Formats: sequence, C-alpha cells, structure tokens
Amino acid sequence: MKRFLFALFALMVSMPSLSAAEKSAPKESEAYKFADKLIKKMTLREKIGQLQQFVPKKGVVTGPDGGVENIEESIRQGLVGSFLNIRSTKRMHELQRMAVKESRLGIPLIFGFDIIHGCRIIFPENLAMSCSWDIEAIERSARIAAAETAAIGIHWTFSPMCDISADSRWGRVSEGSGEDPYLGAKISAAMVRGYQGKDLSADNTIAACVKHFAAYGAPQAGRDYHTVDMSRFMLIDRYLPPYRAAVEAGAVTAMSSFNDFEGVPASGNRWILHDLLRGELGFKGFVVSDWNAVHEMVAHGTAANGKDAARQAMNAHLNMDMVYGDYIKYGEALVEEGEVSEKTINQLCREVLAVKYQLGLFDNPYKYGSQNKSEVIYRAENLEFARELAAKSMVLLSNNGVLPLKEGVKIALVGPLADNARSQLGSWRGFGEAKRSVTIREGLEARFGKDNIFYAKGCDFRNAIEGGIEEALRVAENADVVLLSVGLSHKESGEATSLTDISLPAPQQALLDALKGTGKKIVVLLGTGRAMDIRNEVEKADAVLLTWHGGTMEGPAVADLVSGDKNPSGHLSISFPYCVGQLPLHYNMKMTGRPRKSPQHNSKYLSRYTDAPNEPLFPFGYGLSYTEFEYSDLKVVTPNVSMGGTVKVRVKISNTGQCAGEDVVQLYVRDLVAETTRPVRELKGFERVSLAAGESKIVEFKIPTSDLAYCHSDLKVRADSGDFLVWVGADSNAKLQGKFAIR
Ligand code: NOJ
Repeated sequence: MKRFLFALFALMVSMPSLSAAEKSAPKESEAYKFADKLIKKMTLREKIGQLQQFVPKKGVVTGPDGGVENIEESIRQGLVGSFLNIRSTKRMHELQRMAVKESRLGIPLIFGFDIIHGCRIIFPENLAMSCSWDIEAIERSARIAAAETAAIGIHWTFSPMCDISADSRWGRVSEGSGEDPYLGAKISAAMVRGYQGKDLSADNTIAACVKHFAAYGAPQAGRDYHTVDMSRFMLIDRYLPPYRAAVEAGAVTAMSSFNDFEGVPASGNRWILHDLLRGELGFKGFVVSDWNAVHEMVAHGTAANGKDAARQAMNAHLNMDMVYGDYIKYGEALVEEGEVSEKTINQLCREVLAVKYQLGLFDNPYKYGSQNKSEVIYRAENLEFARELAAKSMVLLSNNGVLPLKEGVKIALVGPLADNARSQLGSWRGFGEAKRSVTIREGLEARFGKDNIFYAKGCDFRNAIEGGIEEALRVAENADVVLLSVGLSHKESGEATSLTDISLPAPQQALLDALKGTGKKIVVLLGTGRAMDIRNEVEKADAVLLTWHGGTMEGPAVADLVSGDKNPSGHLSISFPYCVGQLPLHYNMKMTGRPRKSPQHNSKYLSRYTDAPNEPLFPFGYGLSYTEFEYSDLKVVTPNVSMGGTVKVRVKISNTGQCAGEDVVQLYVRDLVAETTRPVRELKGFERVSLAAGESKIVEFKIPTSDLAYCHSDLKVRADSGDFLVWVGADSNAKLQGKFAIR
C-alpha cells in the first residue's frame, strides 16, 4: 500500500499538464499525514531542529568554516535534523542511534553527501557523460551510484546539478550537462530516475536534489559565486528546463544557489523558492540552502546579521539551513518576536519530515548502510559499464588518420595525466578511491603489452620538472607514435576553480613543442573538466581525443578507443571556443538585428568580432568517428501540423566507411517569426544510432508542438503557430534543411 501511495505521489508530482492547485494536496499523501501528526507533538525548538543541517568537525570539508563540536548533545536535544559529509557508516549509525533512542521524539537524521558522478565507482565527470548523449546509460550510472551510496549509509545526494552553462571559465561546467536546455533536461530527469528509482524507501535508492536553484550557471565573467544578472525571461526560456525536468521526474529535494537573482540572494528569494519552484514547477519536497548560503546574505549586503538572514530565508520557503546554524540560533526568537510565523515553521518542518518518511527512515533508520557492501560496491559488471560509458563520453576532435593505432605499435606515453590515478576521478570523487583507478598507462599496457609502452611524465600540470622534457624525448625516440596525455588536474575542475585563461598551461605546451620536434606522430589525449582553447594543440597534433576526467575506468576506455576496439562516438555538449574572449559561447545564440551572415555581410556594422571569428573551434554536437556517416533524404512528413499535433521528420543515415560505428543524429529548429527573439537554432531531438559498415537506417523524429513552446513577453511558455526551419545532421551546423508550419 505504501509503495502504491508513493508511486501515486510521484505520478502526481510528475504530471506536467496539471496546475499546482489541481494536483492533489500533499495532505492526501501518507507521508504528509504522518508528518502533520508528528508535528503536533513537537516543540517549536524541535521543529526548528529539523531545519538545521550540520557538518561534524571531522567531516569532509566542501566549503569555508563549518564543523560543529559536541554534536551528540545537539542530537539528544533534537536540535539537528541532518548531517552532511560523514564518511563512516559506523559513525552515521551511532549518530542515528542517538537521534532515535536518546532524543525525546526519536526522529531519525537524514545524511547527505555529494555523490555527483558516482560513489565508489566513479564515472566520467558530468559534462563528459553528457557528451555520450546516452540517456539510458546516464540513468544507469545514477542507479549504480545510488545503490553504492545507500550501502554506505547515505540517504541523499546533492545531485543532479541542473545548471546550464556556456562559460568554461567557470570550473563548475564540469558538474553540469553543458549549454543546451533540451539535452540538459533529458539528463537531469534521467539522473533523478536513476537515484530515486521507483521506490524511494528501497535500500538501493536515495533522494535526489535539484541544484543549484536557480541560474547558478551564469555567474558574471565566469567567476564562481559571482553575481548573476539575468532576466526572468531568460531564466524561464533557457535555464529553467533542466530544473523543471528534474522536478517533474519526482526529485524530493532541491538546493538554493549561492547567487542572487534580480538582486535578491536565492536563499532569501521567495519568488525563486516559492512562487517559481513550488507554484510554477510544482515541487513538493524540501529545499536545503547551499553551504552557509543563508548566512552569506550578510556578506551579500541584503541581511543585517544572521538573524535577519534566517528570517528572510524562512519566509522565502527555504526549509533547511546547511552548515552555518542561523536557523537553530535564531529560529525560536524569530517566532517569539512575530518575524516568522509558527505556521511557516510547521510548513518547513513537515516537508522535511515527509521526505524522511518516504525514505523509510521512520520504519528502519539503519536500513541504509546495513546491506552487504561487498555485494553492492565495485561490482564487476558495473566497472565494465563504467568503462563503456567513459568510452562513449570521449570525443574525437581531430584525426588525420593516425588513429586507430596499428597492432604492434610502440607507444611513447607522456604527460601529467598519463598515470594520474587521482586526477582522472575529477573534482567530486564521492567515495571513489584513486587506488582503484585504472590509469591510461595501465589501460594501454594491458591492451598493447607492457613492452610496447614507454612512459615519461614530462612535466607537472603547471610546472616544468627537471629533466622532464629530456626524458620524454628519450622515450619518444624508441616509439612509433607519441600519446600525449595533457590537460588540467582535478583541482582545476569543479567548485572555486574559475580561470581567465583556458589554454593548455605553458609547461605542457612546451612538452608538445619539444615532442613535435622529433617528427613523430602525436596524438593528444586531452583530460579536462571544461572546454578549453586548444587551437595550438589541434594545429600541431595528428589527432586530438578528448578524454575528459574519465573516472575509475578511464584507462581501459582510452585503450579501447585508440586501439580501434571501439569506435569513438561522443559528441560535444559544450562548444569549444576559438578563444577565451568569445565566452560565454553557445550555439543557440539569439538572432540579432545585425547578424553577421546577413545579406549585407560586407558591411562593417554587423555583430562580429574584428580579431576572431564568431564561430567556435568545435561546435556543440560535434564529434568524429573512425568511420564516415552520410545524411540524406531529409523528409518533413508533416509540413503542416495543427497545434497540439506532432511534427514528423525523417532522415536517412548511412555508414559509408569501413567499420561499424555509432553516431548521434541531431535535429534542430528555428522559429522564423516569434513574439520574442529566438535562438538561431535549438536542439529538439536526438538519437544514438548504431550502424555496421555499409548499413543505412531511417531515423524518424516526432516532435510534439508543445516542445516548440517558448517564453513570451508575458513570461508564459506556449507554442505559437507559424513557420519553422528544421535541420538534421551530426552537429549544430547540420546542413540538411527542411521546413514545416504549425497552423
Ligand atoms: C557547495 C556546493 O555549491 C554544492 O554543490 C554542494 O552540494 C555543497 N557545497 C555541499 O558540499
């Protein structure tokens, strides 16, 4: 029965066509009924306790300050509802026992952790995974992560990050799914499904968290934690879809972002947290602040002190204060002084209790972490899957025929990422262990034989090492080809890693130059968590394979691709700029009044740079293969569609090369005349297609007219009748064109 009710609840949350008011009231759900009953027994102090999350002194540090002493006493008094960043199952169970057995009402704690792209088995960083365009595989990665996480004792991950970003100066592009709302939405929803499964109370599912709400992916000038200045129109039109999709997939928690929106920090912004998230998107779970984000309203200059910050956040509908402690310090006084109503506290508290209930914590508070870990963690088939996903995420950017390598080839493997077990795990490694990483060196040795791999580090990421270049030249002498594994370290990816220069650091460029002097063929293996300016490397190398930070199984995945055992099939989910000055850069830029490719293209007065092209070095959607794909016979099956109908477009794709391969067929549209300015192109469909050499397939896309809806000047999202262009191909520059109209 309980299961049925949860499924019903999830279904209600996921019904996009109903307005929030039409959806069944939360009271109807078993979880809310339970919470309401419990709240009646709670003191004000206990209720506020449920709204406080702490990190213990010895917890993992993922932000400034924080770390409370004497947490045992707080638990006994019911003054803490949640912890984040505890690694030990034993410790979590001890604390849980205190909460359940020694606090007055025995309300269980909820433990959270950043499981961002894997728990023990680390998958490629999220930006990399999104380049697989394989939604099922991404869902499966979250499923595996959830099972491993639950077995460690954690109930809740702070993922998926749904922030659209088109600015690779911002290190956190690595945690998202790139620049496109359509692809981003598919991935966010898949991750929520993967984490939460069909039954949140099962011992292999965990709560997901839609973050960072909202618009965190657009900090000014790419500097982390910086101001976001964005119109509501832009938020709704371009940034909202991945958050919306995650909510509709049933995510039970969300996280407020560090940034301000329209001048009000998100954690105190009622329009963001209440009107938009709950009213418009229909979110029914609870919202946790980001680390210290409530108190940081003081630094933002919109709260006078911690008490004022807590007042604003509570009234904005922010349920849980992460780390700093302003809720527990000032909550009671705020109610006593009439600044926050007890009704508000009840609402905030019931939403937290309902999620704990749905997780099954009131039934069995020790269920998570009691599984037989060895049956769940590092399962062989999951490691194999991580290898497949890593290979699918890698993108072949250039190749003059040097790849795939010939059998028996002697390889000089050089560079700071070639044998770097830690960096390949990326910035968030959850419970990942470098000792379990299979490095590129190990992967190549296993595939090509130890005797055929000559390794030299060459340099550090940002420093030369004495004799490093000489050693690299020595190993290159004995080899037929040089694989140069360069890029950025895990410390240059993720939070607080903004860069103004996204080119390859100088010592690594010097290494490339020195090796180029040998006349040997050079394959650059680019390891990074962001798009980079790699003009120089593309010009000098014979091939560039974007390997990203590929996770635990990066090494075997690289070996699979360079050997030709597998064919590269990843496609970029973020544009690689020609130079940093183009940022932010995305393919779905708006039309302007003076587009560069206009009939007057010889005029000076057009929207363009005078020292660089407008175009990226590699566009969104781009990726090469060892075979050739040809697109033909584009047919718009439904040139005239009525509103509410479905646009059908067919295309033929043929593998005209010598080996089997997979391509990502992409469909883009342009709305020719709309009420508000539209992007030059927008992705509206994609499909991964697998073809044997010589094989052809017809791919049919079905696009409901509701997918062509856009934000109007009244901030309402709806589709209009009118004419559209459509393109299908292998990247965002797809040439095959057709047209259709909604009548
Ligand atoms: C700050 C980050 O912005 C957020 O993504 C993360 O979940 C929290 N710290 C907790 O570690």
